[in-house]
Amino acid sequence: TPHLSPEELKGLVRTVPDFPHPGIQFRDITTLIGHHQGMAASVHHLAAAARDAGADKIAGMEARGFIFGAAVAVQLGVGFVPVRKPGKLPIPTIGIDYALEYGTDRLEVDPGAIGAGENVVIVDDLIATGGTALASAELLRRAGAAVTHALFVIDLPDLGGADRLRQAGIAVTSLMAFE
Ligand code: PRP
Ligand code: ADE
Repeated sequence: TPHLSPEELKGLVRTVPDFPHPGIQFRDITTLIGHHQGMAASVHHLAAAARDAGADKIAGMEARGFIFGAAVAVQLGVGFVPVRKPGKLPIPTIGIDYALEYGTDRLEVDPGAIGAGENVVIVDDLIATGGTALASAELLRRAGAAVTHALFVIDLPDLGGADRLRQAGIAVTSLMAFE
């Protein structure tokens, strides 16, 4: 059977109003990843884009970026770099604080996770303001990576994140957008 199209995948995302705060339309991937063909097709489309980008490794952001990033890495036959929430990695890390659509957070990576000049492609479930992806790109570059492409299942274009990444020289691919 052919892979589900991006339009069909969009129909598998559940929208929950007012989560986690009033006024936020939460785009929930639980329903997408719980659907076997939905998960498989999402990974297929992301892996094709990562292959085109010449990925040596895939980086994914905790927690939802792990779901897609690890699967894309396996499909492509490359390693996976976890970009972690603070205090989780057992050795000295490099870290950066960043702003979310709601609240702030911090990300950390293992400085030894990447060989010098490796082409690391970022994968996450969703881009909103782009703060998470820009912080991740900065961290991965400090760890020695070349970061030229970022891939998302969902883009929220009204929040401007994809534009911010493109202005920073990072090519952005997403499977669907919610205006
Ligand atoms: C969500 C989402 C992205 C990020 C997008 O993660 O998975 O990583 O927010 O927002 P931004 O473009 O404005 O930075 P969240 O921090 O909620 O963590 P989770 O994956 O653990 O749910
Ligand atoms: N992360 C940041 N904004 C989000 C949204 N509107 N839906 C789901 N995840 C998000």
